[in-house]
Amino acid sequence: MSIHTHQPSSDTSSQDPLLVWRKEFPILEHTTYMISHSLGPMPLRAQTALQEFTNTWAMRGIRAWEEGWWKMPVTCGDLIGSIIGAPKGRVVIHQNVSICQSIVTSCFDWNGSRNKLVSDGLNFPSNGYIYHGLTRQGAEIVSVASPDGMTVPLERILEAIDEKTQLVSISHVAFRSSYLQDLGAITARAHEVGAYIVADLYQSAGIVPLDVSALNLDFATGGSVKWLLGGPGAGYLYVRADLDLKLCPGATGWAAHIHPFEFVDGPIEYAPDIRRFLNGTPNVPAMYSARSGYEIVNEIGVAVIRAKSQRQTQRLIALADEAGLKVRSPRDPAARGGAIILDIANGLEVTAELDRRNILVDFRPGAGIRIAPHFYTSDDEIAHTIHELHSIINR
Ligand SMILES: Cc1ncc(COP(=O)(O)O)c(C=O)c1O
Repeated sequence: MSIHTHQPSSDTSSQDPLLVWRKEFPILEHTTYMISHSLGPMPLRAQTALQEFTNTWAMRGIRAWEEGWWKMPVTCGDLIGSIIGAPKGRVVIHQNVSICQSIVTSCFDWNGSRNKLVSDGLNFPSNGYIYHGLTRQGAEIVSVASPDGMTVPLERILEAIDEKTQLVSISHVAFRSSYLQDLGAITARAHEVGAYIVADLYQSAGIVPLDVSALNLDFATGGSVKWLLGGPGAGYLYVRADLDLKLCPGATGWAAHIHPFEFVDGPIEYAPDIRRFLNGTPNVPAMYSARSGYEIVNEIGVAVIRAKSQRQTQRLIALADEAGLKVRSPRDPAARGGAIILDIANGLEVTAELDRRNILVDFRPGAGIRIAPHFYTSDDEIAHTIHELHSIINR
């Protein structure tokens, strides 16, 4: 095969303006970072932001709550909102997707005649654990199986959604295969039968352009550490504005109260806006550590990121084909997210050897080795990754 060896990435920076961002990510100086589908590289700005957190805590003390900390779940949420097409004030930050999904499912009664939850077979397992827990309340869980471990046929999802369906849950981009689901068609079908839809955007936001408003989604969840380049402990929840007064999440807390600082006993009187989906004290340092990544993605723009991602993932596939490696992601760039999955024997060991060679990717059982360029990736790094992978396998 004719794969080139690694060259300094600055070689190509004149043709690729996005490579100027490399200096914002210290780890790129010595590591080929192909793992933003799992944990993005830390931006330098995050260090400054965390310093700002400790300075504020040290110098402003408890005043910090009213000077910004208390509102951060919503102000930080707005930075995500502009990435996913949500209007201002429609996204709140929680600790993680699992909490956000629990809040969504707690909005519904599961013991009536509309007790069905339809999920796609490539959904993240954590979401499934939450859904199966609902069977104790009477829910019927229907998971639409993937016939090939890579895709879930749209027609099968549409068929599974019926008048008994309360909630449809779809992973926009599947973490195992990078398969991109047709959220528009699924949302239309859910609404046709009077069901709600929650989309997990963790593997799409920041790498695939999307617009929760245009899609007319009811809920969306996601997190910060992947394509959004944020620190851990900051997941997000979007809820469509007209649903506020209809929904009363059972998983709640005092931050969701209309007047939290009146400390009223008894049942909660919910805030009339997105705050009704909050619970207790927010994870402030996590939001400081995540915010910079959202800002950077906003500055570059997801459409620009997507164009480069599609070009580079196509190149990855071409080089993998040339090297005789088996691709387990859709070949049509419009049908996949930002990672490419390669089905490779001894994937764990190969991943560990790549790590020793300063190339970071990961391995998922039942899927394969996941490789993800992002806007900071040079074309040389694409070739270098496949070259080293090939050399390890042939060793
Ligand atoms: C699509 C998807 N959803 C959810 C999760 C888990 O989210 P959290 O750890 O924030 O609950 C992940 C990965 O970690 C994921 O890839």
